[in-house]
Amino acid sequence: MSASTAPNLIAAVSEQRQWDRLMELAKLGAITGADGSPGVNRPCLSPLDREARRLMIGWAEGLGLAVTVDEIGNLFFRHEGTDAEAAPVLTGSHMDSQPNGGRFDGIWGVVAGLEAVQAIREAGVATKRPIEVVAWTNEEGGRFAPGCMGSMAWAHFKPANAWDAVADLEGVTFRQALDEHRKAEADLARRPLGGKPFAYLEAHIEQGPLLEAEGKDIGVVTGIQGSRWFIVEITGETAHAGTSPVSTRKDAVQDMIRAITALNALMTDPTDVLRFTVGQIEVFPNTSNTVADRVRFTIDFRHPDKELLITNGDAIEPTIRSAVKGCEVAVTERFHALPVEFDALVTDAVEDAATAQGLAAVRMPSGAFHDAQFMVPICPAGMLFVPSRNGVSHNPAEYSSAPQLAAGTRVLAAALVELANKETTAPVF
Ligand code: GLV
Ligand code: MN
Ligand code: MN
Repeated sequence: MSASTAPNLIAAVSEQRQWDRLMELAKLGAITGADGSPGVNRPCLSPLDREARRLMIGWAEGLGLAVTVDEIGNLFFRHEGTDAEAAPVLTGSHMDSQPNGGRFDGIWGVVAGLEAVQAIREAGVATKRPIEVVAWTNEEGGRFAPGCMGSMAWAHFKPANAWDAVADLEGVTFRQALDEHRKAEADLARRPLGGKPFAYLEAHIEQGPLLEAEGKDIGVVTGIQGSRWFIVEITGETAHAGTSPVSTRKDAVQDMIRAITALNALMTDPTDVLRFTVGQIEVFPNTSNTVADRVRFTIDFRHPDKELLITNGDAIEPTIRSAVKGCEVAVTERFHALPVEFDALVTDAVEDAATAQGLAAVRMPSGAFHDAQFMVPICPAGMLFVPSRNGVSHNPAEYSSAPQLAAGTRVLAAALVELANKETTAPVF
């Protein structure tokens, strides 16, 4: 039996403690969904986000972990290994939520990382490498679009000031919110942006129906499909709804309908693999008896095939331009993440840990994007999933049970120990 499957480590993961922490955090931004489900609205860099982070910091400090933050607000808790110079194994996820979100998306990955580290410490399992738990800033993109800003900046995929001018619905810019946030966390020790971990492993709820449908406990995530986000602005002219002839109008709403209809045709996929979503529409001046002169809408387009992602994504703007009649069109791409494949070092560690614990695991891709996507170029990376009831997520009804989450954390703990004691990533010939 390897150290990572040692019974004392597995037994040290506390289902109750983990659940209690999740429920404590879920009070911060608690909302009730349309069906009465208890959900969460905790926008990134908000006072509620900071309260949640302080709770987590308190638990981490209680364990004796070193707490640090970087210039974009990514938060780290460090457990030392026996070799302080060794590259750390990094685990974690995000603490912000969707505006109408659930209690588990993201936050479980951070709580699970802390629980895994607590179990490792309480079980007295030594690791050569340090283990760091991270809470990435703004994964959701719910307040400031796009998502994954913290992980993108950390991986130097984009500079940390790339989103300074992005504003939320109240007109507060990301830079203003981040400056205020950094002031509020001025007491925390700073660390430089970026790093070179030995490996990255993120635990997350599945957010889809596969694990539940197949009766599996653990998803061994093999990769993440690509995503492209666009914002489209259609500009026409306001006019009186009663007096202006329809034939001469520059009606932004009607042109938006033409554009989305044409995009639906472009994105038709008989295999049902492609994902195309218009999730946000803003109409100006937004009155019932005035022809709208301006519409802004978002596009979220995803596909696992890189070529198709590029071809169809590049066709979005020309498709809109040829569909509209009379209005001006501006299309801006604000997120472009190509599909990634995870590293066998991490996927095997997850699968081996699940199997050793008698859990049913299945290899599967991720339809959602995650911070793990941006770790792929810098270190061996991977993820593990636990089932989501009815596959529901980005919804207060999102639910994974305490035993399902604890099973995921036991696999996480074992896989982290396995990775943290690996000698090298070099291939053996
Ligand atoms: C992440 O929240 C996503 O939209 O995939
Ligand atoms: Mn998430
Ligand atoms: Mn999410």
